Amino acid sequence: MNNYKIAVIPGDGTGPEVVNEGLKVLAAAAQKFGFKYETVNYDFGGARYLRTGEVLPASAIGELKTFDAMFLGAIGHPDVKPGILEKGILLKLRFDLNQYINLRPVQLFDARFCPLKDKGPEHINFTVIRENSEGLYAGAGGNLFKDTPQEVAIQESINTRFGVERCVRYAYEYTQKYSRKKQLTLCGKTNVLTYAFDLWQRTFNEVAKEYAEIKTDYAHVDAITMWFVKNPEWFDVIVTDNMFGDIITDLAAMIQGGMGIAAGGNINPDGVSMFEPIGGSAPKYTGQGVINPLAAIGAVAMLLREVGEDKAANAIEKSIRLVVTTKIKDLAAGKMGYSTAEVGDLVVKHL
Ligand code: IPM
Ligand code: MN
Repeated sequence: MNNYKIAVIPGDGTGPEVVNEGLKVLAAAAQKFGFKYETVNYDFGGARYLRTGEVLPASAIGELKTFDAMFLGAIGHPDVKPGILEKGILLKLRFDLNQYINLRPVQLFDARFCPLKDKGPEHINFTVIRENSEGLYAGAGGNLFKDTPQEVAIQESINTRFGVERCVRYAYEYTQKYSRKKQLTLCGKTNVLTYAFDLWQRTFNEVAKEYAEIKTDYAHVDAITMWFVKNPEWFDVIVTDNMFGDIITDLAAMIQGGMGIAAGGNINPDGVSMFEPIGGSAPKYTGQGVINPLAAIGAVAMLLREVGEDKAANAIEKSIRLVVTTKIKDLAAGKMGYSTAEVGDLVVKHL
């Protein structure tokens, strides 16, 4: 029997509440599908930073590398200046653990939860593959003459052939393996960012030659935001850079029903990957038992698929779909008609 070692980072705000429900479903899935696992908790987050002044202990990365997967709740604290926890924890984990893919499946389960007129589950079912280690997130740049009228701020987008190609290759492989329509769209801005996206476009076209059965397509990022609203059914798999991926996946989360249902994975295909609900720490709902745990439970399903427990992953996703379509009143916090824990119980019950 497989025995998985899973690192759990409940984090800040509502993170611990939704992680609890994810772990509840994980326990039930292990029983039902016959695998074992052990978890180790890490207290990384804003509370620890405010207490100790440390974002991540020096030993963290080395330790985390010994796990099969990681499950993250949320990082973000209202009393910590923006950037400290994001860069010091979330981005550091992504970069140092080489989680160079951000995988975001986007699926609408029930038309009731879509803000778009006349769109249903048949229209919103695609995946965004976001480069997760380079681009504007690499941190290249700096300030000159800070706090003077002559101040200059430079923030450069780093795009390496190596980084772009491994992301593009992952996208083709993913499209080949999992997608419905075998269609891969590159999202960029080749009309303005003529250095970075020229590299992306050439790499995309070259790798395409190895995947004759995949239809390829290109869309500018601004146009994609328009089409996500107007014709989301056009898309199957989308590959894009770090910054554009960050932006379009929040829009994508909204058309699939909101942050309560949006799960993502930070993937190192050759190492340890980290799965999370993408909604953040939602401080105003903390401790009330009203936050939607389905995104965190969906992240557990993605985690199980990554380690090879496909049956368990599929069953959890099926149960989420059932709970969404037949039980829950609304996906938003406080409007579900159930508490956070009750929603977790419902997913377990229908597993
Ligand atoms: C996300 C988040 C992060 C990002 C933040 C919290 C640093 O918005 O996972 O999309 O920008 O990547
Ligand atoms: Mn984001």
